[in-house]
Amino acid sequence: MAPSANSADSAHAACDADSVDIPVSMVDAFARRVAHAAPDGRGDALPSGPSAPAAVQMLSFLLTPQAFLRAVRDEHGKTATLRIPGIPPLVQFSDPAAVREVFATGDDAMHAGEANSVLEPFLGSYSVLVLDGARHRSQRRLLLPPFRGDRMRAYGEAMRDITASAVRAWPRNERFPMQRESQAITLEVILRTVFGMEDGADQDRMRDLLSAALRILDNPLYIVKTFQRDLGPRSPWGRFLRLRADIYAEMDALIARRRADEPREDILSMLLAAKHEDGAPMSDEEIRDELFTLLVAGHETTATAISWTLHRLSIHPDVLARVHAELDTVLAGSRELDVDRSRELVYLDAVCKEALRMHPVIPGVGRVVKKPTRIGGVDLPAGVAVGCSIYLVHFDPDTWPDPERFDPTRFLDHKPAPYTYFPFGGGLRRCIGEAFALYEMRIVIATILKDLAPVAEVPHVRTQRRNITLTPAGGLPIRMRPR
Ligand code: HEM
Repeated sequence: MAPSANSADSAHAACDADSVDIPVSMVDAFARRVAHAAPDGRGDALPSGPSAPAAVQMLSFLLTPQAFLRAVRDEHGKTATLRIPGIPPLVQFSDPAAVREVFATGDDAMHAGEANSVLEPFLGSYSVLVLDGARHRSQRRLLLPPFRGDRMRAYGEAMRDITASAVRAWPRNERFPMQRESQAITLEVILRTVFGMEDGADQDRMRDLLSAALRILDNPLYIVKTFQRDLGPRSPWGRFLRLRADIYAEMDALIARRRADEPREDILSMLLAAKHEDGAPMSDEEIRDELFTLLVAGHETTATAISWTLHRLSIHPDVLARVHAELDTVLAGSRELDVDRSRELVYLDAVCKEALRMHPVIPGVGRVVKKPTRIGGVDLPAGVAVGCSIYLVHFDPDTWPDPERFDPTRFLDHKPAPYTYFPFGGGLRRCIGEAFALYEMRIVIATILKDLAPVAEVPHVRTQRRNITLTPAGGLPIRMRPR
C-alpha cells in the first residue's frame, strides 16, 4: 500500500540523506564531526568553517553532500568557508539575501566559468559553461534564441512521441529502474531536437558513444581535477578521452553534413545560421563544444528531475489523483496529448517545481571572486570561491514553511523570488535550458500518466551524487500500474 502524504514526508526527512549506504544517523554524525570548527579558526579573515582536513571535507561533500551541508549550516550558520583540495577556499552562502547579491554581481567581479573550469575537459574550451566575460556573453547570445519559449512547440511533439514509444515497451505491474528509462528518453530528445538526428546507424553510433562516455562521467571523483588523469586506454579517464575523440569525429561529420543540407527545425540548424556580433559564423569547434555542453547540461539533469517527480507522485496518491484529473480534462478524450494544450497543466507544472525544490538536481552554483566584493556583510578578497547552496535555501524554514512537506500548491498563483528558489541558478548565468526542461518534464510526465500510475517499490529513496547531479539511489525502482 502506498504510504500517506505525511508519512512519505517524514520518511523523506529521515532518508533524504546521501549516497553512502549506511544508516542515516551515522552519516549525520560523521558529517557533524567533519563540519566541526577548530577553536582557533584558520587565521584568515574568511567566515568560520570546518577544520577537518581539506581531503576529508572534499569526500564528505562528494559522498554525503546533503548531510555535510546541513551539518555545516548547523555548526556555522548561513555563511561558512569550506576547504577542498585543488580549489580556493569556498565561501558558501545559504541566506537568500546573500544569494540575491551574488546573482546581482557583474562578471567583472565574479566568474562562473572559472568556477566550472573542472568541466572543461568534458565540454571543450568554447563551452558557454566554462567561459567568462565578453566571450561568455557572445556564446550565450547565440545560444539563447533556440531556447526561447516560442520555440518550444517545435520540440514538444518529439518529446511526446519519444516518450510514448518508450512507454509502450515498459512492463506493466513489474519493477524497473526509472532513472535508466528517463535518461534514455531525455538522451533521445536531445539527439532529435538539438542534434537533429533521425533514427538510423548514425544516431545509433552517436547514442552508444555518448552513453559510454556519460557513464564514465557519472563518477563524482571526475569533478576533481586530480582524478582527471589519462593512465592509458584501460583506465576510466583514458577511456573517456578516447571515447570523446570518437564523439568529436562523429560530431564533425554531422556538422559537415548539415552545412551541406537545407536548414531544419533543430537547434544545430539555428547554431549553423547564427552570427557573432562582428558577423562571423560560429566555427565547427564552437558548435561542437556547445552541442556537447547542451547534451551534458540538459540530459541527465532533466532525466533526474523527471525521476524525482515520478517518485513524489508514487508516494503522494492525493497529488497523483489531482494530476490525473487535470490531465483528463486537458486530454478531453483524445488519444494523445496536444502539446499546445500542455500549458494548461498548471497543477502538474507546480508538482514539477515542488519536486525541483525538494530535490534540486544540482545542489549549488559557484563563482570565483575577481575583485574585492562584499556579499552578505562579508568582505571577499579576489581569488576566493563563492557558492550559493540551492539545497539549503530550498529547505530554509524562514522562506519555506514546513520545508519537508511536499506541497505543490506553494507554486500555484505564487512565483517565488529568484533567490529563494533557484534550481536553475541565477543572474547572468541562469540556466539557458530552463523553459526547455520544464516543458519537457510536463510533456514526458503527462504522456506517461495518460495511461499509467507510478507505484513506489521501495519505501525510502536515498539521494546519490552522480558527477554534479543528485540522483535517486539505486536508479529509482518503480512499478507502473495501468490506470
Ligand atoms: C531540470 C533540468 C535542469 C536543471 C536543474 C539545470 C540547472 C542548471 C544550473 C543550476 C545551472 C548553473 C546556473 C548558474 O551558475 O547560476 C545551469 C546552467 C546551464 N544549463 Fe541547465 N539545467 C537543466 C536543464 C538544462 C537543459 C535542458 C539545457 C539545454 C539543453 C541546459 C543548459 C544549460 C546551459 C547551457 C547552462 C550554462 C549557462 C551559462 O553559463 O551561461 N540546462 N543549469
